[in-house]
Amino acid sequence: MAKPLVELRGIIKAFGRVRALDGVDLAIECGEVVGLVGDNGAGKSTLIKILAGVLPPSAGEILVRGQSVSAWDAARARAAGIETVFQDRALAVQQSVMHNIFMGRELAGRFGWLKLSEERREAERLMREVGFTSKDLSPRSIVGRLSGGERQGVSIARALYNRAALIVLDEPTAALSLIETAKVFGFVRQARSAGRSVLFVGHNIHHVHAIADRFVVLDRGRIALSASRGELPSAEALITFMERIAGRPAVAAPAGDRV
Ligand SMILES: Nc1ncnc2c1ncn2[C@@H]1O[C@H](COP(=O)(O)OP(=O)(O)OP(=O)(O)O)[C@@H](O)[C@H]1O
Ligand SMILES: [Mg+2]
Repeated sequence: MAKPLVELRGIIKAFGRVRALDGVDLAIECGEVVGLVGDNGAGKSTLIKILAGVLPPSAGEILVRGQSVSAWDAARARAAGIETVFQDRALAVQQSVMHNIFMGRELAGRFGWLKLSEERREAERLMREVGFTSKDLSPRSIVGRLSGGERQGVSIARALYNRAALIVLDEPTAALSLIETAKVFGFVRQARSAGRSVLFVGHNIHHVHAIADRFVVLDRGRIALSASRGELPSAEALITFMERIAGRPAVAAPAGDRV
């Protein structure tokens, strides 16, 4: 079998006496969508910050395509193709879609001129690739006029432009309507069919179940479950599992909020 794209082995993260992560082993294969769920404080954000290289682990090993890496940091994570869309790292809403896609990595020609027409063509291609279908949207559209789901699409387009092998999305559907959530799912599926892996962090178990090929449940810093869609074919089975480990009803959307 091909080597996993990234692998965490025995990752521990301590904040003082709190062990946010307590020996996490997690492998993400090429081209799979992994759904990461868990209660508040389970360690999800800590885990993705470690993957993104913005927090150093207290202990443990990170492997990229089977190779152990040392001095893991944000630059190395990006170089390895890990692009993280943090919830709080907003897009530049007063700027165009293309500006946001290329932000910080503009195409420069000789003498440093930005190649605007090339950027526009490339932005158009990326928007098609992630599945933007609205005829009203163009690379010049201002992001502030886009819907929540479309903004996630811009972030995903940017990740594809940056040649992301793994796109990490922290709660991408948290504040979205059903229709917008469906758009985000469309973008995620497009990224997968382009051969990228996606780590999808979510609270809504129905959403995570609908989009992921494999589900990983974090519980107080440990992996409580890693199961494929085949092993857990219904969202209810995942909810039941989470209720059992929490000893109380899990955070789940009402039946009407399913996509
Ligand atoms: N910078 C920090 N300093 C101290 N403790 C922290 C820090 N970051 C996280 N923690 C603690 O680590 C644990 C895991 O937090 P984390 O944010 O990773 O959880 P989470 O699964 O993302 O939760 P949520 O669903 O609420 O976003 C919590 O107990 C939290 O209080
Ligand atoms: Mg979090």
